[in-house]
Amino acid sequence: MYYAEEIVEEVRTRNDIVEVIGGYVRLQKKGSRYWGLCPFHNEKSPSFSVNGDMQVYHCFGCGAGGNVYTFMMNYENYSFPEAIRMLAERAGVALPQQDDSQEGRKRESRRARLLEVNKAAAKFFYFQLRSPHGEIGYRYLKKRELTDETMRKFGLGFAGKDGANLVKYLREKGFEDDLIQEAGLASHSEKYGLTSQFWNRVMYPIQDINNRVIGFGGRVMGEGEPKYLNSPETPVFDKRRNLYGLNYARRARSNNIILCEGYMDVIAMHQAGFGQAVASLGTAFTSEQAALLRRYAQTVLLAYDSDGAGVKAAVRAIGILREAGLSGKVINMQPYKDPDEFMKALGKEAFQERIGQAENSFFFEIRILEGQFDMNDPEEKTRFHREIARKLCEFSEDVERENYLQAVADKYFISKDNLRKLVTGYAASTGLAKPVERPKSGVRPKKNSPEENARRAQRLLISWLLDEPVLYGKVRKYISAEDFTEELYRKAAERLFRDMENGAPNPAAIISTFEDGEEQSQAAALFSASLPELGSGQEREKAFHEILLTVKRNSYEYHVAQMGTDVGALAQAIEGKKALEELARTHISLD
Ligand code: UTP
Ligand code: MN
Repeated sequence: MYYAEEIVEEVRTRNDIVEVIGGYVRLQKKGSRYWGLCPFHNEKSPSFSVNGDMQVYHCFGCGAGGNVYTFMMNYENYSFPEAIRMLAERAGVALPQQDDSQEGRKRESRRARLLEVNKAAAKFFYFQLRSPHGEIGYRYLKKRELTDETMRKFGLGFAGKDGANLVKYLREKGFEDDLIQEAGLASHSEKYGLTSQFWNRVMYPIQDINNRVIGFGGRVMGEGEPKYLNSPETPVFDKRRNLYGLNYARRARSNNIILCEGYMDVIAMHQAGFGQAVASLGTAFTSEQAALLRRYAQTVLLAYDSDGAGVKAAVRAIGILREAGLSGKVINMQPYKDPDEFMKALGKEAFQERIGQAENSFFFEIRILEGQFDMNDPEEKTRFHREIARKLCEFSEDVERENYLQAVADKYFISKDNLRKLVTGYAASTGLAKPVERPKSGVRPKKNSPEENARRAQRLLISWLLDEPVLYGKVRKYISAEDFTEELYRKAAERLFRDMENGAPNPAAIISTFEDGEEQSQAAALFSASLPELGSGQEREKAFHEILLTVKRNSYEYHVAQMGTDVGALAQAIEGKKALEELARTHISLD
């Protein structure tokens, strides 16, 4: 780890997890935990739990979980050092100079170096644009009606007449060739050595939500191909999880986000006062980006190009938004091609008006559908109505479906009863009243395999012991960390039992001992299993005994399978068998 364990713990304990998460997610107390809608996946009823006693969170829907650090890292896209700095500041804890433990430090410093070389490149482009070499670029941007202030705000730059100057500059600044390559700023060729692919282009630095330059888009001057050249993905540039302009849009305090197709659209929108505009990064809009937007707004207004490709992309984006639980609307840019052209031609008041008239995404889809059928042909018209019915089936909520049914029937002059019949018929024939759910990222399918049952028992046992630490004294002679056959659980149990011997179990601190986010989630799940709600003492004792036995039996089977065939192993197996039988007969009182 990067910081000493004591300081990591101090910062963590000074930031109450309920307070911190409560700043992002609306939480309600129920029993001993707080519950809210999970910010990491789309859901309508709360399965995201925060446990103030243990200082951990866990989502029963998607498996996300961890302690206050994990939360900040996942929610804000922070690295660990960023999370600890932010939380230290929040709690008024002064951080000492970082210590030197190797591993994490190496990885962090590589990321930091990549960000540094990107920043240096951005600087180089920026000054080029403002030098005589960059005059074509500057004139181009002026022609596109960008003010100097806008160019400065977005850090626009220019990549000069060849790909050698950037490399020369970066080398002079002390950046190594392999770093320049890993950042996607240049590549090696036999003929030219290390050169940048960026030249003769206006450069758009792409920033993450913390304003760090993570990549570039470059627009060619004139007619070259490709029109926009983007940095490749790198350890700091994840195209699925970032959006152009989001670093500004997140602070725009607007109740919607405007999603555009191009960098230039975003810039034109911001210049006109629509600071909530963002765009994807030269790739199609992703579900990860939708999840990101969900943190900042409920409604996403699509301002895609009004040509065929734009409409197709909009239909795709609508599906992704809907799946993420966002409401999508479509801005009509006609007769102009994109927001940039619209703004230039008609100005911001007209655009504001178009925002007000933005079309509900369902009606947009139906309208696009309509265009594919010939309404003068009765047969085609019927097929269109059937398609409407099929789309209506995608609403899983009855009230919502009925409301849309009424609205669409009115709009297209279809009899409501007939349309309803089509819907019912369609639902019956396919056996589905809602869309097939695509697996969402991070959602693990539930399995009922023996392995999963064993893991569940291990989670229940640990969570129960945490809930009632006094029980540990009663079971410690039966159970040890070795009984946890899942490696991660065993590691966590080892530490937990040691803490319990000292009377101070500290699950949130154990989470910090895992470096990997996925491991932290699993550890949080181990501590957060939902215990059966049981009335009588007898029922509880029976359930607890059952769990303990399941864990022990699984452990026995696992270790027998691992054993060799020598005499010692056999003796051990017999021992274990006896112990298991004894435990099965033993009554453990929970009082
Ligand atoms: P457009 O071609 O619609 O961009 O592509 P634009 O902003 O209207 O371009 P200008 O106005 O002619 O400068 C939209 C987005 O698609 C990606 C870029 O992210 C661009 O902003 N794109 C486009 C590429 O990545 N590569 C390309 O060759 C073209
Ligand atoms: Mn354009």
